[in-house]
Amino acid sequence: MKAYSQEWLEALNLSPLWRARDAELAAATEQLTVAPTSLPHLKAEGGIYFVTFRLADSLPQTALEELREIPPEARSKKIEHYLDAGHGECALSKPEIALMLVHALKTFDGERYVLHDWVVMPNHVHLVIEPRGAHSLSDILHSLKSYTATEANRILGRDGAFWQGESYDRLLRNQDEFDRCVQYVQQNPVKANLAAAPDQYAYGRAGFVAGKDAGATDVRHLETSETPGIEAEQLSVAPATSAVSEIAQMDWPQLKQAVAACTLCPLHANRTQAVFGVGDEQADILFVGEAPGEEEDQQGEPFVGQAGKLLDNMLASIELKRRQKVYIANVVKCRPPDNRNPEHSEIAACAPYLDRQIALIAPKLIVALGKVAATRLLGKEASIASLRGQLLEYQGRALIVTYHPAYLLRTLQDKAKAWEDLCLIKRTLRGLQNP
Ligand code: URA
Ligand code: SF4
Repeated sequence: MKAYSQEWLEALNLSPLWRARDAELAAATEQLTVAPTSLPHLKAEGGIYFVTFRLADSLPQTALEELREIPPEARSKKIEHYLDAGHGECALSKPEIALMLVHALKTFDGERYVLHDWVVMPNHVHLVIEPRGAHSLSDILHSLKSYTATEANRILGRDGAFWQGESYDRLLRNQDEFDRCVQYVQQNPVKANLAAAPDQYAYGRAGFVAGKDAGATDVRHLETSETPGIEAEQLSVAPATSAVSEIAQMDWPQLKQAVAACTLCPLHANRTQAVFGVGDEQADILFVGEAPGEEEDQQGEPFVGQAGKLLDNMLASIELKRRQKVYIANVVKCRPPDNRNPEHSEIAACAPYLDRQIALIAPKLIVALGKVAATRLLGKEASIASLRGQLLEYQGRALIVTYHPAYLLRTLQDKAKAWEDLCLIKRTLRGLQNP
């Protein structure tokens, strides 16, 4: 297997240089330590690696046999073909698995390593990665693969090997090699007919970043016609087209049930319960917060902690009361661990639920509380200071942005501005109710 992959990389004009047998490289960095398994164990400070790892079933036995029959110079192309044609079950094309993996990749980005580039293909993953500090590439990959294998098997309700044991990595020794690998990683979804351009593929760096700018709530439609051997269904990326259109048709009981049982993003794993939203389902005004915190997660209702008390007071100041003529919901329905901000991929996964709530409530005015809600609804990042005080729009509905109550609890000097915003909200709501 290793030999094939070397050839595959050679097709990229990279001479093979594998860590697992690479005494020279270790000597060169003079940082060889020997792990208990006696595998050379490299601390790669400063090194950037091109890494590929793939699903256990991505190159099946028949493919391996076929590869043995063809001349060596044709093999790398064939392997690429198998990987890019999505051989095997392609578990990474399932939105919840791909999102979990993207989330896992991002978790230690900037801490244990710098991810220069990455793409999650239906049956394999490419990284251009730079380990940091004392974190060795093999430790990083080991922990990433074992965590994601366990999670994926749990989501799929099965056990056994998820990844192939080996990962293939190569030290990139100069800018030229680096550029070539980045180019390869970027173009991989295009070459595999999964997207028309790198930034249209949701599970690669380019599309992930583009999605962030665009709000990324749209669904990518994939061309599958030229991709042999795979059903269109297996290639869909998140949120799955079918899931989005189904959610868009749901009534209240169906929507509540779907959210309660949702496993579309990794946040489901640590929740006590999903926090759907609360209030008058025909309210003229909808407040959108960020995500449940600890108390919300326990009680199953949004804004019941400290920030919630302030929100209740803010509502009272404009003659509104929780559950009466007002609806309160969050951008994501499940609590992020340690109250961190929800990741872009989690926001994207949860977006259809909030959109359906908005469609069912049909509020005259939406109020975004804080930056996460504002970014989600406006599809672009900007400071609250620059967005507040004006009438904006989300899907043809009036939108006003103001500070998050949790921020106001920490930043007393902005309370006066929040009061101005409440006055604007009250005036606007009256105006919309009595045109
Ligand atoms: N902060 C939020 O954004 N939402 C809640 O539900 C609670 C706190
Ligand atoms: Fe599903 Fe949203 Fe919860 Fe993620 S946060 S599991 S998308 S309900």
